[in-house]
Amino acid sequence: MKVIIKQSSKEGSLWAAHHIAAKINEKKARTDEPFVIGLCTGSTPIETYAELIRMVKAGEVSFKNVISFNMDEYVGLPENHPESYHSFMHKYLFDQIDEPAENIHILNGNAPDLDAECAAYEKAIAAAGGFDLFLGGIGEDGHIAFNEPFSPLSSHTRVVTLTEDTRIVNSRFFGGDMNLVPKQALSVGVATVTGAREVVILAFGPKKARAIKDAVEGPYSHMCTVSALQTHENGIIVADEASVGELKVNSYKYFKAVEAAEKL
Ligand code: PGA
Repeated sequence: MKVIIKQSSKEGSLWAAHHIAAKINEKKARTDEPFVIGLCTGSTPIETYAELIRMVKAGEVSFKNVISFNMDEYVGLPENHPESYHSFMHKYLFDQIDEPAENIHILNGNAPDLDAECAAYEKAIAAAGGFDLFLGGIGEDGHIAFNEPFSPLSSHTRVVTLTEDTRIVNSRFFGGDMNLVPKQALSVGVATVTGAREVVILAFGPKKARAIKDAVEGPYSHMCTVSALQTHENGIIVADEASVGELKVNSYKYFKAVEAAEKL
């Protein structure tokens, strides 16, 4: 695992957007096959998406041959609810880039058969050729997608129950009332994410410091599902100074030295 430590969330977001665009452009130069990307929601990726939008508008990258799968969606929240992840993705990315509508995949949290919806999602990911890159965030409890502590690190897309902690954290989007935050969601599994050829996790701000410490220096454990990245050959955490505040000084120095040597 690499940890790329930038001074601010802005710098980290720019790094991530340019990295994603470079990967899309690299694949385009080599093959006509689509670039398959996993995408996340939340406060964290907004600046990365804003830079990708700028790059699309400037002609520096195109999503015409990109297929995307979002990582999760609440169960039972109407698709057009302002806090649904459908609404989020259209507002912060899809409505402003050139990705064809038929290439966009988001789990349907109102499907009549939720298990069948999840199984079909995994099949669609495989049929698209698997993920070239999965972009994720990290929860304050170390979750990746909605894979809360105790989620099997071998899990795939399924119905999950959110922890009270996550519902409290997300209540900021629901007028501060955790009772309005759905109790369940559909989420890709930990293994769905780590099955990607590359995983890029964004972590900004001091509230993520404990989760980053657990993910990077803690054991490979279902207690912190992002720790699954420890066995991935191409796992990158893009952090700001605040989110690595709990790392040991020697870990910090090591990652900074790698970054300098590889000019990341
Ligand atoms: P956030 O959420 O970007 O809103 O902090 C991240 C997550 O819960 O995975």
